[in-house]
Amino acid sequence: MSETLTIIDNRTGKKFDIPIENESIRATDLRQIKVKEEEFGMLCYDPAFMNTASVKSRITYIDGDRGILEYRGYPIELLAEKSTSFLEVAYLLINGALPTPAQLDQWRSDIKRHTFVHENIKKLMAGFRHDANPMGMFISMIAALSTFYPDAKEIMDAPKRMKQIHRLIGKVTTIAAFAYTHSKGMPYVYPSDDLSYAGNFLTMMFKIGESKYRVNPVLEHALTVLFILHADHEQNCSTNTMRSIGSSHIDPYSAVAGAAAALWGPLHGGANEAVLRMLDEIGTVRNIPTVIKDVKEGRRKLMGFGHRVYKNYDPRAKVIKTLADEVFEVTGKNMKLEIALELERIALEDEYFVKRKLYPNVDFYSGLIYEAMGFPLDFFPVLFAIPRTAGWLAHWQEHILDPEQKIARPRQLYVGERGRSWVPLDKR
Ligand code: CMC
Repeated sequence: MSETLTIIDNRTGKKFDIPIENESIRATDLRQIKVKEEEFGMLCYDPAFMNTASVKSRITYIDGDRGILEYRGYPIELLAEKSTSFLEVAYLLINGALPTPAQLDQWRSDIKRHTFVHENIKKLMAGFRHDANPMGMFISMIAALSTFYPDAKEIMDAPKRMKQIHRLIGKVTTIAAFAYTHSKGMPYVYPSDDLSYAGNFLTMMFKIGESKYRVNPVLEHALTVLFILHADHEQNCSTNTMRSIGSSHIDPYSAVAGAAAALWGPLHGGANEAVLRMLDEIGTVRNIPTVIKDVKEGRRKLMGFGHRVYKNYDPRAKVIKTLADEVFEVTGKNMKLEIALELERIALEDEYFVKRKLYPNVDFYSGLIYEAMGFPLDFFPVLFAIPRTAGWLAHWQEHILDPEQKIARPRQLYVGERGRSWVPLDKR
């Protein structure tokens, strides 16, 4: 069997044998297809990258039809169940293998050494209004970090590159918690290096004024699992942004700030917040049929449903659904759970959703847990950005070290006007 694809250009009658590798062809192999020698050659038109692989990656595998998600070959369900720390999974994503006990100790200590932020970050933070959006503050502060670490520009120096990775994974929780305390007008709680990644973060968020504050172990475990589930998801919108910005060889702080901005949108990581606002608006199960009718008639979207890649139940949503029961045992039930469950039940039976293979995604149930744990709604995207930073950095590193990659620069099909004559202002 020949591993080639034969294309006949009916304009010229010419035949082209294009090599097939990994069930794909190289888009640049199409450039030889042209009518006249001086032409640029055939392009692929693919808005929203519906069928374009822009990288070869070894980080995360998704089979959207079968609802499979793996980090470095480990099923997400296994990592969520067995891994006791987020940093272990972050190590796996960045380094490609699970750490030995000694490697994990070193990794933890390297990251915890970098959880503090420069005191001037607090001054920058003070410039925000009391009601500034926490995700806006988070993005700005991450971008500002690049000015504190000029060595971050040396991205091809392996030890310096790893130092920025430690700094970023360490500091995102501190910046996130500072953004929250700023909105409360309360004093900042500094990081404690004797706590777990999730435990330290919860402490910086909620310890304010409570000297005897101890993180509830059930909530700490739940947040660890949520962080693991959100750590990576291959070439999603924000990761693609991270790779694209990183491909210009800028420092990783600037690239993470850009990736976080991409994440914030309601079609991506902002969906967890949008789901809760939708459930608030629905208010009672009695209103669900009207909502479903509006969705089917194209007047609104069911937030937390549907996915570009999953055409089956999102495996992360399954884990989160079981986690919710654990959390509600401690916090008391989130009353919106009843609405969410009924919405899911009706949607999964409805022909509109069945035909389009629309299932709950990771954002459908996560917000219910975050709300029960005491996080404000506009903080939910920040909770997504914290763990996703590890995934972004794994992709950034893979990208800049990949000899096949260059600066990201798509082509366009120009369909506008050409060669127009200038008309003076008074003649238009
Ligand atoms: N509610 C109602 N209809 C939907 C929804 C939804 N949530 N999602 C997709 N559809 C319909 C869509 O209207 C289209 O119908 P038709 O074929 O009649 O035009 C069909 O399903 C295919 O949808 P699409 O918009 O072509 O799919 P996409 O791959 O471009 O979009 C998506 C994927 C996630 C942006 C979209 O499903 C969506 O907007 N969902 C709601 C927002 C959301 O929950 N986002 C979180 C995604 S998971 C976490 C993350 O990535 O950050």
